Amino acid sequence: MTSTSTSRGFAAVILAAGQGTRMKSAQPKVLHAIAGRPMVAWPVAAALEAGAERVVVVLGHGKEQVEAALVASDRVETALQAEQRGTGHAVQCALPALEGFEGTVVILYGDVPLLEAEAIGALVDARGDQPLSLLTCRAADPTGYGRILREGDAVVGIREHKDCSEAERAIDEINPGLYAAEAGFLRDALGGLKDDNAQGELYLTDIVAAAASAGGARAVSWALESLQGVNDRAQLAEAAAVMRRRIATRHARAGVTIRDLDRVDIDAEVTIGVDAVIEPNVVLRGDTHVAAGAHVDVGCVLTDVTVAEGAYLKPYSVASESQIGPDAQVGPFSHLRPGSVMGPRSHLGNFVEMKKTTLGEGSKANHLAYLGDGTVGAGVNIGAGTIFCNYDGFQKHQTVLEDGAFIGSDSQLIAPIRVGVGAYVATGTTVTRDVPDDALAVGRVKQSNKEGYASRLRARLKAAKDAKAKG
Ligand code: UD1
Ligand code: CA
Repeated sequence: MTSTSTSRGFAAVILAAGQGTRMKSAQPKVLHAIAGRPMVAWPVAAALEAGAERVVVVLGHGKEQVEAALVASDRVETALQAEQRGTGHAVQCALPALEGFEGTVVILYGDVPLLEAEAIGALVDARGDQPLSLLTCRAADPTGYGRILREGDAVVGIREHKDCSEAERAIDEINPGLYAAEAGFLRDALGGLKDDNAQGELYLTDIVAAAASAGGARAVSWALESLQGVNDRAQLAEAAAVMRRRIATRHARAGVTIRDLDRVDIDAEVTIGVDAVIEPNVVLRGDTHVAAGAHVDVGCVLTDVTVAEGAYLKPYSVASESQIGPDAQVGPFSHLRPGSVMGPRSHLGNFVEMKKTTLGEGSKANHLAYLGDGTVGAGVNIGAGTIFCNYDGFQKHQTVLEDGAFIGSDSQLIAPIRVGVGAYVATGTTVTRDVPDDALAVGRVKQSNKEGYASRLRARLKAAKDAKAKG
């Protein structure tokens, strides 16, 4: 995204009161997410980036939820359209919030998530001293859009698809729904709106004809790609795909190796340092931060995770609300659940699950383990098949492994439990009592070997099987 000069003062009104019937959703349309942000947050961000002094978001359906999803900023406020009587009525509802404001009012729709600040800047610049400017686009398929009516070069009005004659439907110049109006003109024009149309609504688009007779409406043509409206979930997915590529390209230009721009899914707020490598089919969600030089290999899914410099996440690792320390190694197929903290140079290998556990510097759990509700010091080795038995069916308990402890394979640590500094737990031990510093804990049945018994045992078992077969 390029920033635009903030010299031109303007206010923005963003319409977001509609239900979005065509989404067929219990959720208001503008709350459906694009790259981890609710749709309405995108035009709000574009307006702020373009330099809007104030942004008034018109709410209606799901107003509490939509309001909660808006960025907290002293430049953003809301207005209420209790009953949805059309886009013109929605802007009327924003006027009290703009009382006394003189200058340019930009009007945007909340269902246009790909809009960039540049388009708003061009629109504001184009108005000059005319009452109104608007963007227009050429559309291969103009179905559903309002059509731009011209006489010669001059724009004289907009006709909604449902109100068009056969001849007007053939017009391929459409209204993407962005306007910049002089405040006084806007108040007058909204006051004169009538609902004598196919939908019985107050159409905002009728202010264009009003502007044409009050000094002229200046049209600026713009590419439709970034102005496409989202009305159903197919369009939502298409817009999300455009946004995904845009975000991946931005990171690539900033020095991140993105192996395939079309096969990564990176949320809007994610940050990635230079020389980090993001392999195909990686999903980075929410508040995730990947530091310089880290490597996130194929198929990893990270949600609200911090990855430090030089860490390597091998394929198909899944982590949420966790921290991965510098030069740590994870996976393949590791699972870090919320509250996992991996220290510098620590390792978590395949099929290891970790939850609310801290792993100290250089400590390793390389194969098949469950580490839950634990504190593991530095230089600890946790063998294959180790389980922190943290849950007694009622409460969760802590496992503490002090620095330099060694936990042999297939051990169960029954929490609450502490294994002391440098202590050694022999393979296959069920640890039920604390192990003092430097102690060896062994808890397993003594082995006995019976010479020659294996072949005798087989003969006996085979005879039993044969007897059964004979009946
Ligand atoms: C509108 C335009 C059409 C344009 C198209 C571009 C009008 C009359 N028509 O049609 O010319 O080509 O957008 O995408 O403006 N909203 C409210 N309150 C209402 C009605 C709508 O806040 O009473 C909001 C909706 O939440 C939505 C936006 O306004 O964010 C656009 O409404 P929508 O019903 O999608 O308009 P379109 O039929 O697409
Ligand atoms: Ca629309």
